[in-house]
Amino acid sequence: MYIESVVLKNFRNYQEKTVKFKDGLNIIVGQNASGKTNLIESVYCSGIGKSPRTNKYKEMIRWGSDVAFIRVVLRKNNTLHTIEFSIDSYDKKRIAIDGIPLVKLSEIIGMLNIVFFSPDEMKLIKESPDQRRRFADISLSQQNKKYFYSLSKYNNILSQRNKLLKENRYSKALPEMLYGWDVQLAKYGAYIIQKRYEFVEKIETFARKMHTEITENKEQLNLEYESGVEYGELDKMEEFFFDKLRTNLDKDANLLYTSFGSHRDDIAIKINDIDVRKYGSQGQQRTVALSLKLAEIYLFESELGEKPVLLLDDVLSELDLNRRQKLMQLCSGLQTIITCTDFDMDIEHNRIVIEKKDQK
Ligand SMILES: Nc1ncnc2c1ncn2[C@@H]1O[C@H](COP(=O)(O)OP(=O)(O)OP(=O)(O)O)[C@@H](O)[C@H]1O
Ligand SMILES: [Mg+2]
Repeated sequence: MYIESVVLKNFRNYQEKTVKFKDGLNIIVGQNASGKTNLIESVYCSGIGKSPRTNKYKEMIRWGSDVAFIRVVLRKNNTLHTIEFSIDSYDKKRIAIDGIPLVKLSEIIGMLNIVFFSPDEMKLIKESPDQRRRFADISLSQQNKKYFYSLSKYNNILSQRNKLLKENRYSKALPEMLYGWDVQLAKYGAYIIQKRYEFVEKIETFARKMHTEITENKEQLNLEYESGVEYGELDKMEEFFFDKLRTNLDKDANLLYTSFGSHRDDIAIKINDIDVRKYGSQGQQRTVALSLKLAEIYLFESELGEKPVLLLDDVLSELDLNRRQKLMQLCSGLQTIITCTDFDMDIEHNRIVIEKKDQK
């Protein structure tokens, strides 16, 4: 799939702007603060339904305006589709695909598949487990609607359960009160964990290849899903999950939250058997993050038969020439949109120049 054009109205620093993209390599060049990341953000938003850098939608409305608007035209399986997204000053979000409004914003996920990488994505490696779960969740949600649905259900049930724990910690009826919620939590949680195990196993195969290629055989990458529930048949996993919730009841009532579940899992990342999350150098962490993101492209292709759109914000300046060239090789064959302040590599590309005066 690839994006043909993006129209922005009152989005961030753009009053009105149309950008045409080509399949293959697109380079957005412009000075600092000209609006390159903003343009990438608008594309990400149209695919994932939220910004990669803020949870506050209103921040994306151009200062002094009422409504921000994005229209993306994309070609998918040789058919043109339109995604229209608007945010108003009451924080109301509207989204339509091919002119048909969606009931829920999140239904957008899966239409325009995105793999996004920016220096900030280093968080994926070095920060807390929720960053790595988020990586798996965003990728899986784009590939599998049932996963996305189960994850939303799980998160809702989890917050209900935690609320009940807080409100009824001293009540004798607590076990009975939680019973129904625990059945549901175990059902959705087991499915999430099973899919994440499978995701990690599949993406590992691609990531290992990418990593060996980028590091020229010097480093061996290994990934492993870390969970309190072992991989196995779904009903066995569900049963185990449920039992664990029930035996932890007193503990959870003391803690006032649910101490066991898929919301506590992690992905172990190792290079030559050393834990990169803790001991990796900056460069190693950056390369691993890149290997994972590139692996995601091939995973999308193997799961859905189509490559996603790759967004690289400000990534080139952080790589040496060798790695930059490797990256270019590895992302040929799909639409790639890259921002940088200057691009002088000898590769055919569609150049998009953003000038500050454009937006005034
Ligand atoms: N809601 C908004 N309304 C108007 N302008 C905004 C809004 N949000 C951000 N901006 C401005 O947009 C400008 C461009 O930001 P952006 O992050 O896209 O720059 P950039 O081209 O990626 O720069 P760099 O090369 O430094 O990464 C910033 O100067 C910022 O102040
Ligand atoms: Mg930027």
